[in-house]
Amino acid sequence: MSNIVWQQHQINGLDREKQKQQQAVVLWFTGLSGAGKSTVAGALEQALVARGAHTYLLDGDNVRHGLCADLGFSEADRTENLRRVGAVAGLMVDAGLIVLSAFISPLKSQRDAIRQALPAGKFIEVYVATSLEECEKRDVKGLYQKARRGEIKNFTGISDPYEAPAQADIVLDTGLLSLDESVKQLLLLLEQRGIIRPQS
Ligand code: ADX
Repeated sequence: MSNIVWQQHQINGLDREKQKQQQAVVLWFTGLSGAGKSTVAGALEQALVARGAHTYLLDGDNVRHGLCADLGFSEADRTENLRRVGAVAGLMVDAGLIVLSAFISPLKSQRDAIRQALPAGKFIEVYVATSLEECEKRDVKGLYQKARRGEIKNFTGISDPYEAPAQADIVLDTGLLSLDESVKQLLLLLEQRGIIRPQS
C-alpha cells in the first residue's frame, strides 16, 4: 500500500451514527450450513427495522453471487471471502449501520481477523450452535446429501472443519429455540449493550 495516503473526510462514523440515532455494530452470525444463521439474522433485521433501526444484512449465499463470485471453498478462498466481507462490514459500520453478517466462517482465525480489523467493541459474535445432526436432518438445500456422497468437497462439518467459538457473545441453538425466542434473546443483548433502546 505504498503511495496511498488515507484521506480524512469531514463527516466521520460518529457523525453518521448520531444522524441515525444508533450505535453501529456488526452482529457476526457463525455456524454450520443450515444452522439458521440467515433465517435468524433476517428475522432480527425485521424486528430492528420495525423499531426504526438502520440495518444491512450481508449473507454468504448472496455475497458469493457478486463480490465473491470468484471464490470457492478451499481454506484460502474462504479466508479471502471473509476478509472482503469483513472489510465491507467495516465500511458499513463507518456508515453508521447495524450490520448482520451470516457466514459459516469456520475458523477461529478468520473470525478473529474480522474482529481485529473493526474498531474496538464493534464485533458481536453470534454462534448459531445448531448441531450437525439437526442441520443434516433439515438439509434444506440438499447439500449434506451431496457432501456425504462425495459430490461436494471441503464441505463444512463433513469433510472440512468447523471450529466452534469458545467465547461467543451469545449462543443460539435453533434446534431448541423458536425463531421468536432467538430474536428476543438477540434484542435483549443489544439492549443490554446499549445499542438499541428498550421498547417502552
Ligand atoms: S464461508 O465458509 O466462506 O464462510 P459462506 O457462508 O460464504 O462460507 O457460504 C456458505 C454457503 O455456501 C452454504 O450455506 C452453502 O449453501 C454453500 N456451500 C457450497 N459449497 C459449500 C462447502 N463446500 N462448504 C460449505 N458450504 C458450501
